Amino acid sequence: MSSAPTPAPSQPLASMDEWEDFLKTRYPEPAPAPAAASRRPPPVGVAADKRAEEFRQYEADARPTVREFYRLNHTHQTYAFGQAKRKEYLGLNRMKMSVWEAMEYLNQLIDDSDPDTDLSQLQHLLQTAEAMRRDGQPRWMILTGLVHDLGKILCLWGEPQWAVVGDTFATGCAFSPKNVFPEFFAANPDSAEPRFQTPDGIYTPGCGLDRVALSWGHDEYIYQVCKDYLPEEGLYMLRYHSFYPWHREGAYDQFATAKDRAMKAWVLKFNTYDLYTKSHEAPDVAKLRPYYEELIREYFPDQVRW
Ligand SMILES: [Fe+2]
Ligand SMILES: [Fe+2]
Repeated sequence: MSSAPTPAPSQPLASMDEWEDFLKTRYPEPAPAPAAASRRPPPVGVAADKRAEEFRQYEADARPTVREFYRLNHTHQTYAFGQAKRKEYLGLNRMKMSVWEAMEYLNQLIDDSDPDTDLSQLQHLLQTAEAMRRDGQPRWMILTGLVHDLGKILCLWGEPQWAVVGDTFATGCAFSPKNVFPEFFAANPDSAEPRFQTPDGIYTPGCGLDRVALSWGHDEYIYQVCKDYLPEEGLYMLRYHSFYPWHREGAYDQFATAKDRAMKAWVLKFNTYDLYTKSHEAPDVAKLRPYYEELIREYFPDQVRW
């Protein structure tokens, strides 16, 4: 493993799936869930010591590409970087297109991955939504599943992998050791910013997660695109689905309100579908399209601002 060649500097992952595959090893599905009804959020904070030990092992076993990806992400995602990207993208003045068009647009993203074993972005969105549909989840949640990764279109606009995917974390305060590969934060310029060195940093406890600037990526972007159209539970799923340090590890919870904590149950419910429903069986896009076009029309205008 240690003799692996040095990965490419800015885009180490052959495919963004590599990051998600790593998450699956870090957070194995809690129990076999053959029946849909048995899907439930995994326990948080159970046997923390044992799990901490296991996580170190997952880090040790991580592919060099994944490790390099986290190194870049933790080095370059500063508070100022996130603010600059919010300014750059959240005016939503880049494109106007329908949700289905955005799905097709994202699908142009060809990761350098094995076409026989990896799903396209469109297929992952449809598989996530279809698993929810099979379980009889509400229509707004199925739609949330359908759109949840559309923020990855940031990659098509020249953003590096480390600025689009990766577990998100709070900036503007001390980096939590509950983040994966916490040692890589030493190279982050925010580690030398005096205001950011306490657990609360520039925030006050209980201020609400919406006041906390998370590291920038596809979650915040798709949340902002959808915030006028989906119910609040769905918006929490979009905005925090990669916030593993919070929803799986309990980090940064001092900023959460009672409402944030209540909404976490929805984020965890979403996570079971996002992470564990990938299968090699490709969904029939043409056959599914009419159902999803109708569902999209129920909540979204024909043209959405991106
Ligand atoms: Fe995602
Ligand atoms: Fe996803």
